[in-house]
Amino acid sequence: MADPRETLLAGLMTSSKYRHLAPAALERTTDWALARHRKPGDALKAAKRKLHQGFGAYFDPGALEAVHRLLDQADETTDLQDLSTRILALHSSSAERLPVMDAFYTALWAEIGTPGHILDVASGLNPFALHAMHLPPECIYTALEIDNRLVEAANRFLLLSNQPGKAIWADVVSSLDDYDADVALVLKTLPCLEQEQSGAAIDLLKALAGTPIIVVSYPVRSLGGREKGMRETYLEQITTLSAQISRTMTVLPIEDELVTVLRHAPL
Ligand SMILES: C[S@@+](CC[C@H](N)C(=O)[O-])C[C@H]1O[C@@H](n2cnc3c(N)ncnc32)[C@H](O)[C@@H]1O
Repeated sequence: MADPRETLLAGLMTSSKYRHLAPAALERTTDWALARHRKPGDALKAAKRKLHQGFGAYFDPGALEAVHRLLDQADETTDLQDLSTRILALHSSSAERLPVMDAFYTALWAEIGTPGHILDVASGLNPFALHAMHLPPECIYTALEIDNRLVEAANRFLLLSNQPGKAIWADVVSSLDDYDADVALVLKTLPCLEQEQSGAAIDLLKALAGTPIIVVSYPVRSLGGREKGMRETYLEQITTLSAQISRTMTVLPIEDELVTVLRHAPL
């Protein structure tokens, strides 16, 4: 008889909606579903529902195709700033930051210094913000992302930009390697990870123990654009999380996003 775990996993890995997600994420979702449902059909439905809650809302496939179409048209004569602005506008999370992108990174580097190696955790379209980061040419940029269509797009853009570094297909809830970065960007991501797996936010911050500076941000408006006390709620959450990992927290003066810088507390 077929192994139910293998069957369920194969169902997710061949699904047009979820086959782009890192295999480790499909494995942990398979285990989560099988622990709750005995019938294989019910387990598959539950796994798909869980993945839909986690990922269905972020990227419409049309937007991802548009990203690759714009990259297909690019060559060494392309204005990369114009290209990346058009791409960043394709996703709500980065589109929201677009009007203040330059000010965002200027304020961030003023607080923490220009980094030598950035680890962008759950990067989404943020690699396309490289032009606004104004990094020195030797700065390494490593991005981790669960969706390999975004990983491929980021790698195509890194090549065009001549910035050293790469995007890596990874599920940061399952594990996190040590990349020896001096700053980790965890932008608008902890609530998503927590929805995928309870406790994922603190586990990720603990796994970043070797990284001197962690920048954690949260949205302050819902997808519909309404402010519903989100800044206060998330400020409370990150205050608790930073205390749990013995880091000090500085809040940056940025209006449209709650941006915090976590450093190891002095002994
Ligand atoms: C709300 S978006 C934020 C993107 C980016 N950090 C920004 O602020 O523009 C969340 C991103 O995290 C990615 N993601 C979600 N769960 C992940 C996981 N377990 N491992 C790696 N990436 C993940 C999603 O695919 C999506 O691109």
